[in-house]
Amino acid sequence: MATASEGSSEAVGVLRTLDGQKATKFYWYLTVLACVGGFLFGYDTSVVGSVLNFIPYQLSDLATGYLVAGASLGAAVGAISAGPLTDRFGRKSLLIVDALIYAVGALLSAVTVNAEMLIISRTLIGLAVGADSAIATAYIAEFAPAKKRGGLSIIQQWMITVGILVSYLIAMLIFAVAPHSLKTVDWRIVFGLGAVPAIIAMLLRARMPESPRWLLDRGRYADTQQAFDKLGIQVTEEEVRDTADQLREQAERQEKQRQWTPGVVRALIIVCIFFVFQQITGINVPFYYGPKLLGGLFQDSGNVVDAAMAGLQTAAILGAVNVIATFFAFRYIDRIGRRKLAIGGFAGMVIFMVIAAAGVAYLTGPAKIVVVMVGFAFFISSFAIGVGGTGWLIQGEVFPTAVRGRAASGAATVNWLSNFAIVVLFPTLNTAIGLSWVMIILAALSLLAVIFVARFLPETKNLSVEQVVDVFERQRS
Ligand code: BGC
Repeated sequence: MATASEGSSEAVGVLRTLDGQKATKFYWYLTVLACVGGFLFGYDTSVVGSVLNFIPYQLSDLATGYLVAGASLGAAVGAISAGPLTDRFGRKSLLIVDALIYAVGALLSAVTVNAEMLIISRTLIGLAVGADSAIATAYIAEFAPAKKRGGLSIIQQWMITVGILVSYLIAMLIFAVAPHSLKTVDWRIVFGLGAVPAIIAMLLRARMPESPRWLLDRGRYADTQQAFDKLGIQVTEEEVRDTADQLREQAERQEKQRQWTPGVVRALIIVCIFFVFQQITGINVPFYYGPKLLGGLFQDSGNVVDAAMAGLQTAAILGAVNVIATFFAFRYIDRIGRRKLAIGGFAGMVIFMVIAAAGVAYLTGPAKIVVVMVGFAFFISSFAIGVGGTGWLIQGEVFPTAVRGRAASGAATVNWLSNFAIVVLFPTLNTAIGLSWVMIILAALSLLAVIFVARFLPETKNLSVEQVVDVFERQRS
């Protein structure tokens, strides 16, 4: 595996200082701020499942399907649009606009007067989810110290998992406090609360520094110097200019004039395939369909509130497992590395999906519930430790600054399209071949993912983002 010393793009000048920096409280604060969109990504993609039964409009099957899966489709559009915009206007501007769209979408969902308005507001939210997911880890990768980049970027995954869990908890709380207002105000409050973190993020993001690497790449040296200053690093404009010159010379020496070099294209293909596997191996089956598939096993009184609560409790248990397991990703991503965690993660997904499938096929009663829940819990843990955050991390770190926005957003688009495909296909497959066989197919896909990662994903821990690009360039040649 490549190491930093083998990299031909040494970190230079002020970027070397940035890479060697200690991650102060301000770095963590900035990371969390960049990842509020991740929280809303989790909250908004899972909240629909909790309130769907209580929306009092006549919704066609298509409209219902759109409300559940439409966020993913909207996210694909948001992601692909974000790329050129962020490369042109910066990371910070886009993060602010995203937060605004999130807030408007959540408020409109809460005060909606008919099905059309609800669909429009959910589409807006989908756009924000996609755009934000496209650039959050790219922004982090551009200021994070090299040795902490993995851990900082995993915060995005953590916020996603917390968002998912909080959406279930909020719904449970509101349904419990006002069980008679399910179809009147409860679902509106659940949707509308998404506006609170969005508004706070919008205000705070207005004061965050722009990405220093992006500013440098755009030749805005005085602004770069100020961004460094906000990050607690004192450099002169002269030093910034020198660094830009050195980077230019380095690129000329390596004849890397073109932005989309073979190495960059290779990196893009690898991240896209990783994302396809991240989704089609079925992580969102227990999340989107778990309450429905498992809720009925826990409770069958026929009471609508009881049924909703049982489904939510099941989902909340799995959501909590997801949050806790993500801690291990955060802890080990910079020590064990991306490759090993991803291989272990996908391998765990194979094993535990097969166990859960066996439970579905051969067991009944409480034994079935226990085996399926335990299988799903460990399947989710394996995903959380090695696959979820690793995907979003490599999406942010493997591309050169000049094309990072476009490349990262292209990859995010692939993620959302794959997400959409599995959400839409699952019910049909389930009816056609039965749940246990679907689960076996998902396990087989995880096995393919193990082989793919082992064969193609290089290790990128502890390298500067400039060196990461080189690793792919070398693999290509
Ligand atoms: C995936 C989402 C998934 C979530 C679960 C993310 O990395 O992109 O599709 O719902 O992890 O934690």
